[in-house]
Amino acid sequence: MSNCFIRSVSLSIVSMLAAPWIQASSGAGAGLQAGNPQSGEQLTKAGDCSSCHAADHEVVGPAYSEIAKKYAGQSDAANKLAQRIKEGGSGNWGTTQMPPHYELPDVQIQEIVSWILSLKDTPTARASATDGKKYSYTLQDGKTITLDFPLFVEGKEPKVTKDVFRGYELYNSYCYRCHGTDATESELAPSLRHALEIGMTPQQFLAVAMPGREDKGMPSWAGFLSEEEMTGIYRYVKGRSLGLVPVGRPPSESE
Ligand code: HEC
Ligand code: HEC
Repeated sequence: MSNCFIRSVSLSIVSMLAAPWIQASSGAGAGLQAGNPQSGEQLTKAGDCSSCHAADHEVVGPAYSEIAKKYAGQSDAANKLAQRIKEGGSGNWGTTQMPPHYELPDVQIQEIVSWILSLKDTPTARASATDGKKYSYTLQDGKTITLDFPLFVEGKEPKVTKDVFRGYELYNSYCYRCHGTDATESELAPSLRHALEIGMTPQQFLAVAMPGREDKGMPSWAGFLSEEEMTGIYRYVKGRSLGLVPVGRPPSESE
């Protein structure tokens, strides 16, 4: 009985605390309406688009350059894409849902669409945020693992990189309430450390975290956290899941 009581109290605290951030994330979209004339590119940066899209690489949704290539030469492309941005949906590129944007004025959507369609000659990179190098670390059990991003400043272990440190700060500001402090365990949401242990990739992580699963109690972070910030959170949790980054505040590059 008393357990139940404590659990329900902490749940309602969670929803109280979570509320401002959910509002903050829809608030970012509202900023788009404040509109002096802005370029399509600026509009995508001011809204939630850049949490899920980039000009030259896939994030949660396709690269704008790939969208431009796919629709190049189709006479109704602009209308089709404008309708898609407004109504959202899935199935053209994969199974992940793009959220609707009914709050965006048509003129701004048209600006965005003409900017996207202008990117048809932009080369598309394969992956985001990696420098192509490999980083090897020895785990506590003696095994060696290789990552395509660094956890620690080279030659200065255990000082973590700026990315990982920022990930630690963001995780323990926004995610810990449901997923557990320092990515330990929690009754409210699945362990992210475990999800990464069994192989969740950065792409898969962003594909849940940006749109959220509102029906299951996982908020959307699109428009509130950027691709870089969410990738930092992934890297921090990866370091934790490998047992390389300890609980608590890790020593950082700037110390
Ligand atoms: C939560 C993540 C998310 C956000 C936020 C988001 N998108 Fe998308 N977007 C997607 C996904 C996923 C797809 C692929 C949908 C599909 O497969 O049909 C997509 C597809 C698209 C497409 C291609 C549609 C088609 O029919 O081929 C365009 C254009 C687009 N998005 C523009 C935008 C713009 C502009 C914004 C901001 C106003 C935005 N998106 C915000 C995830 C997102
Ligand atoms: C209000 C509670 C809450 C907050 C805050 C929250 N989450 Fe979640 N999260 C959930 C719940 C509940 C689920 C499980 C959803 C389901 O059953 O599909 C989940 C699932 C996930 C998953 C999928 C895990 C898996 O194993 O499939 C990821 C990734 C994730 N959350 C990332 C984050 C990140 C990153 C943050 C912080 C920026 C965050 N969450 C903040 C409640 C929350």
